Amino acid sequence: MNTLKHLAIIMDGNGRWAKANRLPRTAGHYKGVEVLRNITIYANRLGIKCLTVYAFSTENWKRSVEEVSYIMSLPKIFFASYIKELMDNNVKIMIIGDRDRIPKETMKVIDDAIETTRNNTGLILNFAFNYGARDEIVKAAQHYAQDYKEGKVGELDEELFADYLYTRDLPEVDLLIRTGSQLRLSNFLLYQLAYSEFVVTDTLWPDFTNEVLDECIAEYQQRKRNFGGRDETESH
Ligand code: FPP
Repeated sequence: MNTLKHLAIIMDGNGRWAKANRLPRTAGHYKGVEVLRNITIYANRLGIKCLTVYAFSTENWKRSVEEVSYIMSLPKIFFASYIKELMDNNVKIMIIGDRDRIPKETMKVIDDAIETTRNNTGLILNFAFNYGARDEIVKAAQHYAQDYKEGKVGELDEELFADYLYTRDLPEVDLLIRTGSQLRLSNFLLYQLAYSEFVVTDTLWPDFTNEVLDECIAEYQQRKRNFGGRDETESH
């Protein structure tokens, strides 16, 4: 059995789902919020320690003003509907990304949820929100350089560098799932996914169910992870 402590998901396909159902794109995102609630509760039940979801990327600002402002209202919709249930399930909220460009009202809703769930010890639901991996890596490098100049830290190695990333307190990502068929990383967790297993499903995020998650996990369980070492079952 491969351990599954940290699951990351690129929740893609909301727009295509909306189009297929002759609905506005925002309806796809709205349905996506409900699916996120279901998957969070289920992942917690499976004993997964951390679920990192790509909710808004640094590139998503290029979308229409209407769509961006709708996505910025999703945390309010999500927490207004589900904070009680998240508390009952011992779920802890976290966020990674650049907070500076996120509207104040949105940030307040997220910070309130982080504060409310601070002492919870179940699944960590970690929102990548205004997140971009290159931005994260550049910021980490700048921060390290500053600390080095001030004599606070020694020479850099992989472990020390990881301490400068947003994910510093989280376990390694074991599995990345991307919904909606596309085979790309879209600037998501570039440093952290070095040895993660990838599963891409054709299912669009609004159609994603506990059963589809089970199938993705079953596929992950078929994989032989060797972290760059030699596969010991090979005979030559
Ligand atoms: C990608 O689908 C999805 C997003 C950019 C937004 C994802 C957000 C959620 C699922 C809800 C998150 C919840 C909270 C509380 C923030 P797309 O629009 O790129 O789909 P497409 O590829 O079919 O166009």
